[in-house]
Amino acid sequence: MSEKFSFQSLAHCSHTQARAGVFVTPHGVVETPKFMPVGTLANVKTLTPAHLKDAGSQMVLANTYHLHIQPGEDIVAGAGGLHKFMAWSGPILTDSGGFQVFSLSQMRTISDEGVTFRSPRDGRMINLTPERSIQIQNELGADVIMAFDECPPYPATRQEVEGATDRTYRWLKRCIAAHSRPDQALFGIVQGGVYPDLRSRSANQLVDLDLPGYAIGGVSVGESGDLIAEIVKVTAPLLPAHKPRYLMGIGTYREMAVAVAHGVDLFDCVIPTRLARHGTALVGGERWNLKNARFREDFTPLDESCPCYTCQNFSRAYVSHLVRAKEQLGHTLLAIHNVTELIRFTVRMREAILADRFNEEFAHWLTPTVDRT
Ligand code: GUN
Ligand code: ZN
Repeated sequence: MSEKFSFQSLAHCSHTQARAGVFVTPHGVVETPKFMPVGTLANVKTLTPAHLKDAGSQMVLANTYHLHIQPGEDIVAGAGGLHKFMAWSGPILTDSGGFQVFSLSQMRTISDEGVTFRSPRDGRMINLTPERSIQIQNELGADVIMAFDECPPYPATRQEVEGATDRTYRWLKRCIAAHSRPDQALFGIVQGGVYPDLRSRSANQLVDLDLPGYAIGGVSVGESGDLIAEIVKVTAPLLPAHKPRYLMGIGTYREMAVAVAHGVDLFDCVIPTRLARHGTALVGGERWNLKNARFREDFTPLDESCPCYTCQNFSRAYVSHLVRAKEQLGHTLLAIHNVTELIRFTVRMREAILADRFNEEFAHWLTPTVDRT
């Protein structure tokens, strides 16, 4: 790892693999475990950087696929890079675009060289290869950049998953060769679907390349929560203890708690902002639809114990009114609360690990169940 990056584990749970750590990047530290809000198009939907900071955000995400389509990496580079462009001075991570090409674009053709697809914006053909993805991410200038990978769908045959996993490894070696900025850390992404032997092959191949951090990809693509837990359980221990571990696309209470128990440090998910836009609040592990009649005359805050701007200033009745009236502020207030709530959940896990109380305090999240909030 270049000297601009370091990861240190400060405390380890004595019953599980949970650890509390500090990930140092050129734009600041990330105290782990930590939830990272998603700012696909260089903004976390409906929130300003000031809201994000108040919510406790340390690192935020942006996406190569979306920013390449619009406004283009040249514009972001012209602004002086992503940090200046979006006025977020803390750490930023960009996803490689691999996942989005597979999940969002139609008319794509994939080969060992890369992926060609039609831009949903103006219909032009776009070619994304491992080299192009890294070059774009070098221009965007995030602290952490992700390898260009192939995330197979679920369900998929073993043969399909094996092909995608081996291609992801071949692409990773090309990503490493193309990466040119020592002030950016390139993370590899483990694939392998729901097949334990493919997960371990992928993890071992990546670890041999001695990267500054590792992600577990290819989860939450349609499989059950119990299967996600099983994948994390077999994969996380294969990743080096002295490097950050990042579980991609996960942001539910139970799955984050289980993953932390297996030694995962970082999470991201669009869930808090997407739920906000649908008028839903995350409160104490539940999802509340603010359009529900029971909130119309409820003048208490969403969550009495929440320090966020929304809970400190507004009532359930007011947020319910804004959501019913389709006012933009309703979405912003819910996004502020939801992002704060998920970050607080990871901060509470961190504090519990530091006090060696994680196993007791989070036990109820660690047992398998059908309830997946
Ligand atoms: N986001 C969620 N899952 C994935 C994945 O498997 N790969 C990438 N690049 N991004 C993701
Ligand atoms: Zn709140």
